This record gives sequence, structure tokens and C-alpha cells, in this order.
Amino acid sequence: MSGNRILVTGGAGFIGSHLCERLLKNDDDVLCVDNYFTGRKANIAHLLHNSRFEIQRHDVTFPLYVEVDRIFNLACPASPIHYQHDPVQTTKTSVHGAINMLGLAKRVKARILQASTSEVYGDPDVHPQAEGYWGRVNPVGIRSCYDEGKRCAETLFFDYYRQHRTDIKVVRIFNTYGPRMHPNDGRVVSNFIVQALRGEDITIYGDGLQTRSFCYVDDLVEGILRMMDTEKGVTGPINLGNPVEFTMVQLAEKVIRLVGSRSRLVHKPLPQDDPRQRKPDIDLAQTKLDWSPKVALEDGLKETISYFRRELAL
Ligand SMILES: NC(=O)c1ccc[n+]([C@@H]2O[C@H](COP(=O)([O-])OP(=O)(O)OC[C@H]3O[C@@H](n4cnc5c(N)ncnc54)[C@H](O)[C@@H]3O)[C@@H](O)[C@H]2O)c1
Repeated sequence: MSGNRILVTGGAGFIGSHLCERLLKNDDDVLCVDNYFTGRKANIAHLLHNSRFEIQRHDVTFPLYVEVDRIFNLACPASPIHYQHDPVQTTKTSVHGAINMLGLAKRVKARILQASTSEVYGDPDVHPQAEGYWGRVNPVGIRSCYDEGKRCAETLFFDYYRQHRTDIKVVRIFNTYGPRMHPNDGRVVSNFIVQALRGEDITIYGDGLQTRSFCYVDDLVEGILRMMDTEKGVTGPINLGNPVEFTMVQLAEKVIRLVGSRSRLVHKPLPQDDPRQRKPDIDLAQTKLDWSPKVALEDGLKETISYFRRELAL
């Protein structure tokens, strides 16, 4: 469906900017709302000439009054460095942000999608993680502001659904990468690429045998859009991610090869609460959305490396 009035919170961020771009291609009117905490105007500058695109500086912890048909709620810092910078604000962004956006959705009868996260599974004791797994989350650790904030946001979404019949959709996003990731966000893909491009040592936390799966941003955006287009009552939560696993050492070696770098691997202690394994079970996304990731890690990495090469002017 095209021609909708769409609000994207966190639209100037990494995933949000790709989402805005796709929505505009679909002839939708897009209102991008962001407080630029981690997002950047440069991420959306190329969209400003489009008369169907608008931006508004706004913090989602405050109410917003706009007329829209659909809301993609992405506002929230996503990397540990950023969400631990002001943990109280992080919880507020997830929880107050969800309340404000759900309140808006209820008022204007809009459909609303929440960008939740695989972090709701915490340090999982089942592998891979399916949506029915309730998670193993430390409520008082340094990651809790993000994990518990996102869990509470999910609760609010489902209570608005049960209590007010709000048309909700919840996706749980697993590690996503691609152009416009923040160069200093400390996330593994951007970290490795930036270190490799600068010829610096590549930092591996722990033995580097912990695994992650990486989803290219175009695949993720496709999954988010498909979820938004499902019929009312398909609420999720639905996992979106790439189930192909790589160890940190494998990822580092791939990046070094693609960059053509001389960087060496150095090991540092594991941060607190760092999960050993994280891999989505995407059966539900495959059946309900007919979605699975298409972009191979190597191809996605090449695009991301070109982006960082331009950004760092190397
Ligand atoms: N990138 C991933 O791997 C990943 C994984 C799981 C979930 N997610 C979720 O997807 C969403 C987007 O993540 P991203 O990777 O693009 O991160 P990002 O940091 O690039 O984007 C988040 C955006 O939200 C904005 N923002 C933060 N607090 C805000 C507030 N109070 N009011 C308004 N705007 C605010 C930031 O300025 C930024 O533009 C987040 O909700 C994140 O939790 C991302």
C-alpha cells in the first residue's frame, strides 16, 4: 500500500534513514522525527529535496501531536556505548517514547510498529532464539536500561493492543549492519571495518569464538515493511535477522581480507553481560511474511566498507 502519511521516529538514524528512503520510493509521505542523539542530518540530507519528506526535531519522551496513518517507532540509541552514555534517558526513550507513540496511534487510529530487539532474549540459554522464548535478562546490569526498556515497550504495545485494540506490530531486530552505521558506536561490524581501514589492531573481546549473525540493512527494511503490511491482528513479536552465524574471529578475518588491511587481531576481556551466542529463529518471518535475508555477508560488507572509506576519506 502506498500514499500513506507515515511517521518514522529515529528516522535520522542508521536503520531509520534507510527506511525513510524506501518509503519515499513507495510514494508515501514521510515525517522523520529525531532528536539527533545518535542520528545525523547527513543520513537524510539526500532526501530533503523530496517534497513528500519532512523532518522535525523532537524527543519522543515528550508527546507529539501529528496526523499520520502509520508509525514506525525506531527512536532509541542502539549501541552499548550510546545507550550506556545516559542510561536513564535510554529507559525513558523506550518506555515514555512507547507510551507517547502508542497514545498518538490510539488518538489518530494509526497502525504502529515497534523496533524491538534480540536483546529482549538477554544472554539466552536456548539456541537459536524463537519468539516463544521469554529470555534471560539481568534486570540490574549495565545493559538493562536498553534490554528492560525494550521489554517494557513490548509490554506496553501488547497492553495497548489488548486494552484499546491499537493496531500494533512488533519486530525483534537482530544485529543489523550497513552504510550509515555510526563510525564510533563500538558495534562489532563498524568497529572492525574502521580499525581495518585505519590499519589499527582489531579488537576481539574474549576468545572471539562467540558468535553473532549479521543482517544487511536492505534485508531488514524489507522485513519491517512486510510486517507493517500484514493484516490487523498479526502483532508479532516476529524475529528479523540473518540466521547465518559467524564467530568474531571469522568476521574480523573477512573484513581484513575485503579491506586489504594489515591489521592484526588483539584480544581484550569480555564486557559484562555480553551474550555468548545470538542467532534468530526466523521460521515465523518466513511463514507469516514470506521473508528471509538475501544479501550475503561478503556483499553487505563490501557496501559497508565503501561507505566507511568515503566517510573516513581513506
Ligand atoms: N542496528 C541494530 O542492529 C539493531 C538491533 C536491534 C534493534 N535495533 C533497534 O532499531 C532502532 C534503530 O536502531 P539503529 O541501529 O538505526 O540506531 P541509531 O542510533 O542509528 O538510530 C536511533 C535513532 O533514534 C534517535 N533517538 C534516540 N533517542 C531519541 C529520542 N529520545 N527522541 C527522538 N529520537 C531519538 C537517534 O538520534 C537516532 O537517529 C532502535 O530502536 C534499535 O533499538 C537496532
